[in-house]
Amino acid sequence: MSGKYNKLEQIYEGKAKKVFRTNINGIYIVEYKDAITAGNGAKAGVITGKGIVNNRITNRLMRLLEEQGVPTHFIEELSDTETAVRQLEIVPLEVIVRNIAAGSLAARLGLAEGTKLRSTVLEYCYKNDALGDPMVNEYHIAAMGWASEIELKTIADYSFKINKILGKHLQSAGIELIDFKLEFGRMNDGAIILADEISPDTCRFWDTKTGEKLDKDRFRRDLGGVEDAYREVMNRLLGQD
Ligand code: TMP
Repeated sequence: MSGKYNKLEQIYEGKAKKVFRTNINGIYIVEYKDAITAGNGAKAGVITGKGIVNNRITNRLMRLLEEQGVPTHFIEELSDTETAVRQLEIVPLEVIVRNIAAGSLAARLGLAEGTKLRSTVLEYCYKNDALGDPMVNEYHIAAMGWASEIELKTIADYSFKINKILGKHLQSAGIELIDFKLEFGRMNDGAIILADEISPDTCRFWDTKTGEKLDKDRFRRDLGGVEDAYREVMNRLLGQD
């Protein structure tokens, strides 16, 4: 780990990550775990090497987004599984971006998985494990004060922009971006920036040619080959073995 940041006490442990305070005000360290869960914790396991892969994929994609004008919490990769990030107040929403029908959208609307959507779909869920992250709309968000109208407009604009940037980049690696989940945070000055991770845990990635699933659906649906699929995405994006 870089000598610049000393990891102090753990302030949060989620299903796939831990977050630590550091000696530097305004900077946290995120540590990615090998633990994997699905169905809000109903199914759990360990995928060896997942922490490394998700840390590296996320950081590669966060850098790409920064280069193209999307502000993110990424500061510096400190080790295989640890990254320094900006401290922020998380907006309690999961933003889901969909290009092709799959997962819960396919089930809800009775669509075959793989049905192309005429335009990109944005969905919001309230981040609350006890409630199972219920889907909400702009009116709920305003009524509950989770984000202002201006903040939500910024979040939506960034989400569409991120979709364009990631879709194009992944396409060049032979990966179709089916759908994904984003989280945003608020800096002290009120600026909205991208937070959390962008990895096979939080996206659906299908091989462009074969349609093979290269994401967490392999775990959710007991398809096997989870570790290999995650590594394949990393190799294609980072060009490493
Ligand atoms: P869904 O089809 O299950 O609603 O998922 C849509 C996308 O969002 C998929 O790429 C997985 C991702 N996602 C998360 O990362 N975390 C979540 O809690 C949920 C519900 C979805």
